[in-house]
Amino acid sequence: MVGMIEREQTAVREIIVREAREEDVSRMTEIYNQGILDRHSTLELEPHSVSYEKAWFLSHGRREPILAAEHRGQVIGYAALSRFSARRCHDHVKDLRIYIAREWRGKRIGGLLLGHLIQTARDLGVRKVVLSALLSNEAGMRLYKRFGFRTVGVYEEHGYLDGEWADMVIMEKLLTREPSQCDAPVNNAPHRAERPAVSG
Ligand SMILES: CC(C)(COP(=O)(O)OP(=O)(O)OC[C@H]1O[C@@H](n2cnc3c(N)ncnc32)[C@H](O)[C@@H]1OP(=O)(O)O)[C@@H](O)C(=O)NCCC(=O)NCCS
Repeated sequence: MVGMIEREQTAVREIIVREAREEDVSRMTEIYNQGILDRHSTLELEPHSVSYEKAWFLSHGRREPILAAEHRGQVIGYAALSRFSARRCHDHVKDLRIYIAREWRGKRIGGLLLGHLIQTARDLGVRKVVLSALLSNEAGMRLYKRFGFRTVGVYEEHGYLDGEWADMVIMEKLLTREPSQCDAPVNNAPHRAERPAVSG
């Protein structure tokens, strides 16, 4: 058991956070599709194609960063800010997507990515980050609350997953307020995990 924890700590120390690249999209699609299949991340039902996700990736401009967490050359998760809407009046609002590969969940990689993404967003002058999440997504809810996201409200029965109606939570975080403890310090990319993600 101790050996396993040490191996996990070593693995997490080897993680870097960097800007995602177009050649990462195939692996990012794989990770996103795991979330679709697991049924507690999104209302999407069918796996996305790489070409669909490539179009999504390329739709991001300079003020819509996409960061990837990488371990030994493999992308293990990513976090992105997308336009909230096509309307110019919403230019300052960005929509969060964060997905960690199945085998890497629960090891604080989500927090590592989100911290760096929020810091990047602050540097870019983004004012607000919003998200929608399934109410049943316990890990997501805990992560967002830890980072100071506020619940705006709940869309009841917003989608239908495996024979049941699912509620969707809408959350937001204003970046104009003081950074929270979770918000990562400014670092030069690539960023390295500063502390082990798994405690003894
Ligand atoms: C949601 C997600 C991004 C969180 O990232 P992560 O690296 O797994 O999460 P962390 O290890 O940082 O843990 C976040 C919190 O959830 C808790 N948690 C982790 N796994 C959990 C689980 N299976 N069940 C309940 N709580 C869990 C942790 O204890 C932690 O709580 P704390 O902040 O109060 O200490 C990640 O699990 C994921 O990608 N899931 C699938 C895709 C998804 O749901 N994306 C979000 C769509 S809205």
